[in-house]
Amino acid sequence: MQDLTTLARSCGRHGEVVLRRRGTGDDAVDELIVNGAFAMDSVETGSERALAAFAAPGSRVLVGGLGLGFTVAELLDGHVASIDLVELEGALVTWAYEAKTPRLGRVAADPRVRLWVDDIRTVLAATGVEPQPPWDAILLDVDNGPDFLIHAENADLYRLPTLEQAYAQLCPGGVLAIWCQGPHAGLWSAVRALTSASREDRRRAVRGRHRIDYVIYSARAPDRGRQQ
Ligand SMILES: C[S@@+](CC[C@H](N)C(=O)[O-])C[C@H]1O[C@@H](n2cnc3c(N)ncnc32)[C@H](O)[C@@H]1O
Repeated sequence: MQDLTTLARSCGRHGEVVLRRRGTGDDAVDELIVNGAFAMDSVETGSERALAAFAAPGSRVLVGGLGLGFTVAELLDGHVASIDLVELEGALVTWAYEAKTPRLGRVAADPRVRLWVDDIRTVLAATGVEPQPPWDAILLDVDNGPDFLIHAENADLYRLPTLEQAYAQLCPGGVLAIWCQGPHAGLWSAVRALTSASREDRRRAVRGRHRIDYVIYSARAPDRGRQQ
């Protein structure tokens, strides 16, 4: 059996958050538990990294959900200009500043990244709180999707009123992209209601003998001066 080490643990308003490591050395796997539920680990992170591909080099990006920092690290490697990262769990942001894992430490140390502790829904509602819009890309990976929520309150994030708020905060030509654990007709319908420039990108991640057919939904704002 592999060693299981708790790197950090916190219990707050939104439930229990645990960062832990399975195994040691090069084979070690980091795991994140959010609200008492398994959120992700570092075994297969292609889908987290695929979300970053929606932001072009030089972009100003808003990201919802820090997790283990894979999306943000990929954005940094992709030479974006700046990242506003909004994370619900203050403890996770603290652990990033404390470099509890090398990747979280790298994210917190990069001068292009500003870490905000907030509910992404509050930021998308644009009530004058920091960080301020607009962004070239808004990337949301805060929960599994409407069918399989870790936080019940996140259901709103996948509905048209919140998606409209997010879409309204894009620069001309900007893109809103939402990670989802599988195809979801209701979410796809809401994304299509934003613009005809919407996409449902179905992808497959392979994890041992398991296949995960995840989806990234996206909606692109019209370029300045162009009729949609
Ligand atoms: C699956 S993880 C994100 C994974 C991340 N893309 C990565 O590359 O590691 C989801 C993250 O979203 C955070 N989260 C959940 N609900 C949120 C909300 N409403 N606002 C901001 N962050 C939220 C969780 O605490 C967790 O850190």
